[in-house]
Amino acid sequence: MQHPQLKSIVQEMPKAELHIHIEGSLEPELIFELAQRNGVTLAYPSVDKLRAAYAFDNLQSFLDIYYAGASVLLTEQDFYDMTAAYLRRAAADNVRHAELFFDPQTHTDRGVPFATAIDGIWRACQDGPISATIIMCFLRHLSEEAALATLDEALPHRDKFIGVGLDSSELGHPPEKFARVFARCRELGLHLVAHAGEEGPPAYIETALDVLQVERIDHGVRCLDSAALTARLAREQIALTVCPLSNIKLRVFDHMGQHNLLELLDAGLAATINSDDPAYFGGYMNDNFLAAFDALPLGLSHAHRLARNSFVASFLPEAAKQAHLAELDAYFAAL
Ligand code: ADE
Ligand code: ZN
Repeated sequence: MQHPQLKSIVQEMPKAELHIHIEGSLEPELIFELAQRNGVTLAYPSVDKLRAAYAFDNLQSFLDIYYAGASVLLTEQDFYDMTAAYLRRAAADNVRHAELFFDPQTHTDRGVPFATAIDGIWRACQDGPISATIIMCFLRHLSEEAALATLDEALPHRDKFIGVGLDSSELGHPPEKFARVFARCRELGLHLVAHAGEEGPPAYIETALDVLQVERIDHGVRCLDSAALTARLAREQIALTVCPLSNIKLRVFDHMGQHNLLELLDAGLAATINSDDPAYFGGYMNDNFLAAFDALPLGLSHAHRLARNSFVASFLPEAAKQAHLAELDAYFAAL
């Protein structure tokens, strides 16, 4: 029997978001506002026409429009406004802590200085209303030399980001392409994550772990294609930052009823729920939770476990992690 208040519990429970591309939180309304503010001409005549173009066949068809959307970001204030809007929206979903991906190369390749982007995002993170940290992602469709140059540009801002990740077009760009830059980041004491097993095979998850030595896998849903890998992820409790609505919009699964989230949990994996690019995929954290809980036979214990996993897998200091877990456990104990 499902708990009668399951939906409101899922919305109210404290949670952390570990997989959000901040550029993917740019709503069409804000894209138009920033385009006007900056004198940028868009390929779409209206907010509605832009939103109507958000019908994707796969990851690449999304990335093409996502990089175009990010082209309106020019000033530090633009990056601040985008980030502040996301943090307010996340707080409304009872997200207590967020770890934000940003793609510096998407901006520096357009002539926007690295400092402009990170300073705007970082300043918004300092202003709240929730705790937030930054993870800088390398674009995997570009070269490792470009990633190394980006790392050099980032080093004067080392205190503003806690880790690095790997995103963009997965197929044909295996993690091992970035072995040297991740080795350098490891020496620098940065946290390491990578997108793997979104569209790519289990082998990409294995090389992300073995060659890049990442601490979490972003997406990772294709791990179930390998029984040996699934067993390893369970044994080592490697967190997977799963993004249900993203997986449907990008056709990783045909519909939510076919999503493998419950199988991942049943296999003992440390799965979490996240929004990925909420402005493009139809929803923020609670929309993702509700879509998954509507379509799959998930109950109260799954909700508690997903929220626990999100704090345990976060890169928060141990004391903050324990404080969030205590608040979460007290919330469930009081039901
Ligand atoms: N960049 C933004 N969203 C992404 C995703 N879902 N996969 C890879 N790169 C991305
Ligand atoms: Zn992502």
